[in-house]
Amino acid sequence: MDKLPKYNPDIPERFYDSLGEKEWTRLSKNRLGELLFHVHMDIFRQYAKKDTSVLELGAGAGVFSKEFVRFGTQLVVSDISEKQLTINRSKMAELRLEEQIEAFQLLDITDLSSIDKNHYDMVTCVGGALNYTFDKEQAAVSEMLRVTKPGGIVIVGVMSFISALVRYLPAVVEEKQQFGIAATNWVMDTGIQDAEHYPVKSRHYVHMMESKDLDLLFEDQNVQILEKRAAGILAMAGETALNQAKEDDELWPSILHKEIKLSKNPACLDCGANIIYVVRKK
Ligand SMILES: C[S@@+](CC[C@H](N)C(=O)[O-])C[C@H]1O[C@@H](n2cnc3c(N)ncnc32)[C@H](O)[C@@H]1O
Repeated sequence: MDKLPKYNPDIPERFYDSLGEKEWTRLSKNRLGELLFHVHMDIFRQYAKKDTSVLELGAGAGVFSKEFVRFGTQLVVSDISEKQLTINRSKMAELRLEEQIEAFQLLDITDLSSIDKNHYDMVTCVGGALNYTFDKEQAAVSEMLRVTKPGGIVIVGVMSFISALVRYLPAVVEEKQQFGIAATNWVMDTGIQDAEHYPVKSRHYVHMMESKDLDLLFEDQNVQILEKRAAGILAMAGETALNQAKEDDELWPSILHKEIKLSKNPACLDCGANIIYVVRKK
């Protein structure tokens, strides 16, 4: 992408401050969330081992923080939103896990200068924090790699543009009436929803990505890409069908099993709600 809009940290900070507690149930309140959780856990289980030092960026309310603690990792939880960090801390306290977390830090992924280079065994940033960083996307990826030890693992997950387009097409139809065809074509061509071209009321300004965007971000880095995974592919079926499937105790485990298989299928990479890259720093 030649010219990305300028990153404004106030946008994600305010957006996630205002979402508050809703973030705690984001991956359990519906079946899409459940699929996403399942695939992320399949990945984390492989890499987050006992005593692995982990920096969790954009940790939100702690849906995965609690799991990293249970894996026995040495965890630092961080987020740009003070509100999310407070919720995370209180959820971990409720679960009696707070003592096992090394620190809770307010961190913007585009600037990790408070952390020494080569510090963590593993750095994770899933759920889409990178989608908000626009012209600082490359800086954010470089920062994640800088603070990771050589041989360490970086796991980055982003919101997929193609899946978003499919799932939110009804909104696109409405927004076309509001903003006109030039704005709609802008979003379709770039995946960018920004104040200048696509001023949605929610101020949810993001660069929805394709796998080729992640490829570019890791292209000139000293890394080996270990896995490219899609998450939430079967969400294309829609919530009603997935809810029906979940009611069948025999069927639902098979659906989850298939979701994992599809998540590894290169042909599906851009079709899940999230695209996740696992890379090893050389
Ligand atoms: C969709 S939530 C995902 C939370 C958690 N990782 C999960 O998957 O449940 C995205 C999180 O990223 C955080 N975030 C957004 N932009 C960020 C940035 N530039 N730096 C750090 N965190 C950011 C938000 O505050 C929010 O808590």
